Order: sequence, then structure tokens, then C-alpha cells
Amino acid sequence: MNDQASQLRNLVKGTRHAKKVRTIALSSGKGGVGKTSICVNLAFTLASMRKRVLIFDADMGLANIDVLLGIHPAFNLSHVIQGSKPLHEIIASLHGGVKLIPGASGAQFMSELSMEERKSIIQAFAEFNDSVDYLLIDTAAGITKNVTDFIIAAGELIVVATPDPTSITDAYALMKVVLRSTPDLKVSVFINQVTSLREAQEVDEKLQLVTQRFLGKTVKSIGFMQKDSIVVHAIRKQEPFVLYDERCQPSASMRLLASRLCQSTVEEGNTLVEFAEKLTGAELE
Ligand SMILES: Nc1ncnc2c1ncn2[C@@H]1O[C@H](COP(=O)(O)OP(=O)(O)OP(=O)(O)O)[C@@H](O)[C@H]1O
Ligand SMILES: [Mg+2]
Repeated sequence: MNDQASQLRNLVKGTRHAKKVRTIALSSGKGGVGKTSICVNLAFTLASMRKRVLIFDADMGLANIDVLLGIHPAFNLSHVIQGSKPLHEIIASLHGGVKLIPGASGAQFMSELSMEERKSIIQAFAEFNDSVDYLLIDTAAGITKNVTDFIIAAGELIVVATPDPTSITDAYALMKVVLRSTPDLKVSVFINQVTSLREAQEVDEKLQLVTQRFLGKTVKSIGFMQKDSIVVHAIRKQEPFVLYDERCQPSASMRLLASRLCQSTVEEGNTLVEFAEKLTGAELE
């Protein structure tokens, strides 16, 4: 075995027994419900609680976290896959220590990658295991295989829904698909753009009812956020609202969500090697 291969084997072996990282996918059935806004603002809130956060922009169609933050990364995951850049060179360091893997617009689906390309992704993630506490994955909307692959690899899913009836129906459809293939997936719902606490409770009750009756698993809400013009203003300023105005209601909602996530044990996570192996369907060893 050559030197490089044995180094890689040691690295991955070590990482297999390494600490767990909370790997959480943020998804929705319907588009435009607030996944990207929540992902970015949750990341900065967790960072303010001394958690090391890596955001994975997995919206392969339209990479939009960079637009939301006004950054222009020159490289993205497709350069790592092609072997022209190591992962650490494409990761953007954001204010507050948050890191971002920029999305690869129009990138190939994981299932279309060669075995060598898949292994290079696993290796890249292995190197980051010890410097990350949370991996937040911002997926595209809908139930395409590309999205469900990310959710299943993460093992933990926050479905973002709004009180809009089509958003509720599509959130249910997404949970149905992923829970059918992965019954032990950890799933919760975050209800966005509500106009009152009562409205959030009604959406929560509806989703609990249908998930219990038809999926045999009660999916509960992990939080809610009201419809607030500050979210739109902050996007225009290309700044996370939690930094723009930490005293606004949406910022308080993000703190509550972050503290709820921190309450559950880290043991629930994956190592980043396990995550990358599930995502690519490959194994290094
Ligand atoms: N709580 C809120 N209050 C007011 N407006 C909001 C709120 N959350 C989201 N929005 C609006 O919804 C728009 C879409 O948000 P965002 O891009 O985060 O959604 P998304 O689910 O990531 O969309 P896509 O499915 O296209 O990726 C934002 O531009 C913002 O105007
Ligand atoms: Mg988005």
C-alpha cells in the first residue's frame, strides 16, 4: 500500500471512532417557505452559543446562500469532486466562525459520480470531523432523489412549513416519502411565517394528527417564527437578521430553536465520514 493510501486509511479509521457531529437537513415540500433564511440564521445563533457550525448549501439547482449573505465564492463542491481543489480551500469562513460549503449550481447528482469522486468527497469530510459540531444542510424543495439522499444521509430532518395549506400538504408528502424508506429518521417541523401563536399551534396539531394517523409516527413542531418584515429587510441588506437585529421576534425564535437542538444529546449525530458514506453510497475501506 502506498503512503498516501495508508495515511487516508488511518485518517478515516480514526474518524470512525471520532466524536459525533449533529447533521441536520432543512427541507420542505413546497419552495420559498424560508429554509435558507432559517438555516443561515440558525447557524449564526448556534455559533453565538459557541458551537462550530458548517453550512452545506445542497440546493444544487440554485445555490442561494451566497446571494442571501452577499458573498461570491469562486469555488464550490464541484471543484472538490473534480479534484481541482481540496475541501478546505472552497469553504468560506463567515462572520462569527460559521463556515459554508458553497453549493454547486447545476452540479452532478451524487448518484452520477464515479467511485473515485465519491471517495474524494468522503475523504474531504473526514478531515473536518473534529472541527465541526453542527452540519446544517440547506436542501432544495420537493421530493427529488437528490433531496431525499441528503435527508437520509443526515439522519435528522427539520421540515419547514408555513400555514399555507399547500405547504402543509407538501410537508406531509415529504415526510411520508422519507419515513417510508427510513422509519427511524429523527423528524420535526418548524412552522414559519405565522401571524399568531394560535396559527402555529393549529398547523402543529394538523401535522401531528396526519402523521400519527397515516405514518404511525407523531411529528411535532420544534418551533415557529412569525411573519416579520425584518426577515425581508435583512435579506435586502444581505445580512442575517439575527445580526441585523438581535432583539426582534424572529431572532428570539432562532435562539429558542438553537437551544432546543442543544438540549438533545450529541450522541444522536453521525461522524462526517458516516454522513458522507451514506450520501455517496460508497465506502472508503
Ligand atoms: N418569517 C418570515 N417573515 C417574512 N418573510 C419571510 C419569512 N421567512 C421567509 N420569508 C420570505 O420568504 C422568502 C423565501 O425565503 P427563503 O429563500 O429562505 O426560502 P426557501 O425555502 O429557502 O426557498 P427555496 O425553496 O427557493 O430554496 C424570503 O425572500 C423572504 O422574503
Ligand atoms: Mg432556499
